[in-house]
Amino acid sequence: MMSSNIDFVCPVEADLYEAVMEHLRLTFFWEEPLNVCVSLCEARGSGHPKLEAVCLDTLQDGLSIVALSDGKVVGCALNGSQSRQQLDEAIEQTYAETDKKFRGIFAMLYENNREINLFGKYNVHDIFECRILSVDPEYRGRGIARILLDQSIQEAQLRGFKLFKVDATSAISQRICKSRGLTLEHELLYADRLDPDTGKPAFAPPPPHFGLQIYTQLFQSE
Ligand code: ACO
Repeated sequence: MMSSNIDFVCPVEADLYEAVMEHLRLTFFWEEPLNVCVSLCEARGSGHPKLEAVCLDTLQDGLSIVALSDGKVVGCALNGSQSRQQLDEAIEQTYAETDKKFRGIFAMLYENNREINLFGKYNVHDIFECRILSVDPEYRGRGIARILLDQSIQEAQLRGFKLFKVDATSAISQRICKSRGLTLEHELLYADRLDPDTGKPAFAPPPPHFGLQIYTQLFQSE
């Protein structure tokens, strides 16, 4: 289904940042499968200072896209740029985190990215990353996330990136990536990621979510 009367805005100006953050507190923070299974946030709408810092940092890269309905934020793709050095620094910072839930999620994401080393595989310095896809529950199923992903891919190409990447933690975002023809680079089953303290799976989200999938699109140079 197509989404009508929705404006897709890029770049996102600073005066929209708080509205984007409020949207994320009500949706992604509370509903993303890994956030759910570790109970990252206390309630729908409650904040998480460290996750908010990651989101703000990403917004400041100037690559994100927001979906607006009558001026209200109803969805977003938070996109950022990452170099190998930034990934290494992010891993070190994450290991020093005291919030075990936050550390667990980000350590898993960063370690899987380091393991597959897309920088070396594709000989790129910077990767365009779609870090967060989020749509207001009342606006779901209308293709908004699909459009956000398509526009993010276009933005990556326009900005001269050679590689576009998504860390898809949800079965629904994985379905969207597949439907756009992105390449599946890597898969980690959540059941195989063990908590070092308990020896049990660190993440056991409810079905249909089963694992992390990393998708890419490589742009051919002319
Ligand atoms: N169950 C099964 N399939 C679904 C569901 C659902 N609940 N919702 C959407 N889909 C399917 C659609 O049918 C469509 O499939 P099709 O193209 O084969 O017809 C596809 O997913 C895309 O649907 P959209 O309408 O574009 O997706 P939507 O705008 O509803 O947003 C999103 C999807 C962003 C995942 C939304 O459900 C959400 O915000 N979830 C909470 C946050 C989250 O988990 N985000 C993804 C984490 S991974 C990441 O951020 C990169």
